[in-house]
Amino acid sequence: MKKIKDYATTPIELFNEWAKTGKDKGMETGHNNSVEFMIKLLKTYKPEANLGIDIGCGNGWAVKKMKKFLNYGNIIGVDGSRKMIQKAKKEDPKGDYFCENIIKYEYEEKFDFIHSMEVLYYLENPENFIKHAFINMQKNEGIFIMGIDHYKENKPSLNWPQECGVFMNTKSIKEWIGLIKSAGYEKVKHWQVPNNKKESTLVVLGIK
Ligand SMILES: C[S@@+](CC[C@H](N)C(=O)[O-])C[C@H]1O[C@@H](n2cnc3c(N)ncnc32)[C@H](O)[C@@H]1O
Repeated sequence: MKKIKDYATTPIELFNEWAKTGKDKGMETGHNNSVEFMIKLLKTYKPEANLGIDIGCGNGWAVKKMKKFLNYGNIIGVDGSRKMIQKAKKEDPKGDYFCENIIKYEYEEKFDFIHSMEVLYYLENPENFIKHAFINMQKNEGIFIMGIDHYKENKPSLNWPQECGVFMNTKSIKEWIGLIKSAGYEKVKHWQVPNNKKESTLVVLGIK
């Protein structure tokens, strides 16, 4: 499999450019349905608690939405793109947004939920991140929930690495579920949320 360095740009650099040219707004529209689905799951499994995090939060739109619909002490966002984080802070000046690479990210407290939308397949070793999340970031009985549109069964997404010129880790539904389970999560469930007639978001949820 190719590596991040085999492409002209890294995922973080690509999305930093997207933020500069306003393409982050398109993700806000395109990912909204799937994020609302995940927020409904969080509402069912853990509607109120102390602390949640959106990993790869982009311009912060989903963090703002989660703060509106969930009853949490705080929900924070982390993204590697400086421009995305600048935008998030501009829209939500009182919010907590941090410009960090998630594979190295550490926070002083553990999280009741760890959410991500369209992020984890940009990692060369998502298994390492998910294990780190389970051990070092997640509270006991906390929820791990991820949504992705690029996976083996979502056929129209398979040419995206060539189209976008960026690394993507192409895995099957079974492989993603295996990663979540082998990190230690239990009661793992998954859904395919339709985006249109041909495409869907894979949502996977696990409990610590
Ligand atoms: C497809 S965008 C999704 C953004 C947001 N979740 C949304 O739905 O609008 C992927 C995001 O993940 C971020 N990202 C990718 N790899 C990352 C990493 N290793 N550390 C931090 N952020 C990363 C990118 O900067 C980008 O903002």
